This record gives sequence, structure tokens and C-alpha cells, in this order.
Amino acid sequence: MKFSLDRLDRLKDSLKSATDRELRKTEDAVFDFHTLKVIQRLFNQKKIRTLENIIATGKEANVFRGKTLDNRNRAVKIYRMNTSTFRKLAPYIEGDPRFQDVGHGHWDRIYTWAQKEYKNLHSMWAAGVKVPKPIAVDSNVVIMEYFGWRYRPYPMVKEKRPEDPEDFFNKLNDFIKKYRKIGLSHGDLSEYNILNCRETPIIIDVGQAVSKGHPMFDEMHERDRKNIYRFFNKMIPELKMEDVE
Ligand SMILES: Nc1ncnc2c1ncn2[C@@H]1O[C@H](COP(=O)(O)OP(=O)(O)O)[C@@H](O)[C@H]1O
Ligand SMILES: [Mg+2]
Repeated sequence: MKFSLDRLDRLKDSLKSATDRELRKTEDAVFDFHTLKVIQRLFNQKKIRTLENIIATGKEANVFRGKTLDNRNRAVKIYRMNTSTFRKLAPYIEGDPRFQDVGHGHWDRIYTWAQKEYKNLHSMWAAGVKVPKPIAVDSNVVIMEYFGWRYRPYPMVKEKRPEDPEDFFNKLNDFIKKYRKIGLSHGDLSEYNILNCRETPIIIDVGQAVSKGHPMFDEMHERDRKNIYRFFNKMIPELKMEDVE
């Protein structure tokens, strides 16, 4: 699917002329009025030139592959929360000392979520963790480094088991150590949120990561450790829970 500025203008016009009721119906869709404006702004700022194919459609976000003016790939994550999801996610945001002053409207929460993912990516990336390098954030859209081959993202480690599990685990464990050192818990770390990039782990999906001081800081990390242990123990029988950072 290709998007041109022309097409965006036409889409925006057709949305503008829609009645309120029709607009409400589109609230759940990714390309609703607000998101279209955001995408257009990112186009105008030359952060991306096109959106190419859709990579993933999740409960909270859709991920697209985009391209820059100089033809480099980007991952474009677009949050589109429905009410039930955003209720579920609210506790993560509300207890985080870094996000005390955020508004409480629906859109504010979604925007905060995207800011949070951007900020967490940045902190982890700066600490030397292999995560996608964050490029830009605007409202509910995060642009980041793309990890894939042409139109296909690298597989999750769940889909492509490491060839040398011990080596892969050690690299991953080193990344965990690095983000623990700067006081973060990932909060959703499992074989679903680690890509196998030619035998190097890439940690993704860090929107829910919290900093020290958050009431769920320890609990979230313990759950992550259990997930990692459970998955890697299948391939490394001698692995112990204590080995996981
Ligand atoms: N930076 C990226 N590069 C390549 N693919 C990505 C990137 N970020 C996400 N993806 C793809 O999108 C999928 C969903 O992304 P994720 O951040 O885990 O969102 P969700 O919250 O929907 O789980 C991933 O499993 C992966 O296939
Ligand atoms: Mg995920």
C-alpha cells in the first residue's frame, strides 16, 4: 500500500465532510482524522516519504514499513487504542514518576504511550541495548529504525529459534543487564518481543517499560525473568533461573 500526499489530502477531505457520527465510527481505525494529520506532518517534515506495507496489526498498535527520502527503511508504529486497552494500560502510566503531569483525556493517554515508547527506546539505545533506534515521535506515531530484510521484518525468536542458544542468551542477558543498570523494567519481555536479527537479539515493544520507583517495577521484571528462563531453558537444559539478570 502506497500513500502519496495527494491521496492523504483527499482522505482528509473526505473525513472532514463526514458527520460526527461517522467520525466516531472511524475512531478505532488507524487512519482516522488525527492520525492522518500526524502522518502528513511527518511527511512534510521529511521524516518519512512513504508508508509501504503493513508489518503487524496488534491490539494496541499497527506497525508499517516506511521509507525515507534517501530510500532507507523505517518502522512506523501507530498506536490506536480502543477504550478497553487503554483502561488496561492506564496503571502503567499513572504510577510512573516520569509521567506525572500528563493529561487524562483519551488522546492524551495514547500520545503519552507513544512518548513513553520513544523515551524508553532512547534510554535503552543510549545504554547500549540493541533496540530500534528511535527517530521521531509525534502524537500517537513512533518512527524508529527498521530491522528486516526488504519488506519482511526479522522473525521473532519464537519463530526462529537461535542456532546457538547459549550465545544468543548471553547477548540478550547482557542487554537486560544494561537496561537494569539505568533503572528500567521492560515489562513485556518474551520470545514475542525479541527479534532474531541474524542471530543477534533485538529487543522491541518497550512502550510499557517503567523506571525505578514505579510500583510494578520489581514485579514486571520478575515476570520478564520467568518468561526468558522458561523459553531458553527448553534449549539450554542446564540454565538456572539465577542466570537471568
Ligand atoms: N523496529 C522494527 N523493525 C522491524 N519490525 C518491527 C519493528 N518494530 C516492530 N516490528 C514488527 O511489528 C511487530 C509488532 O511490534 P510490537 O512493537 O511488538 O507491537 P505490539 O505492541 O503490537 O506487540 C513485531 O513482532 C515485528 O514483527
Ligand atoms: Mg509485541
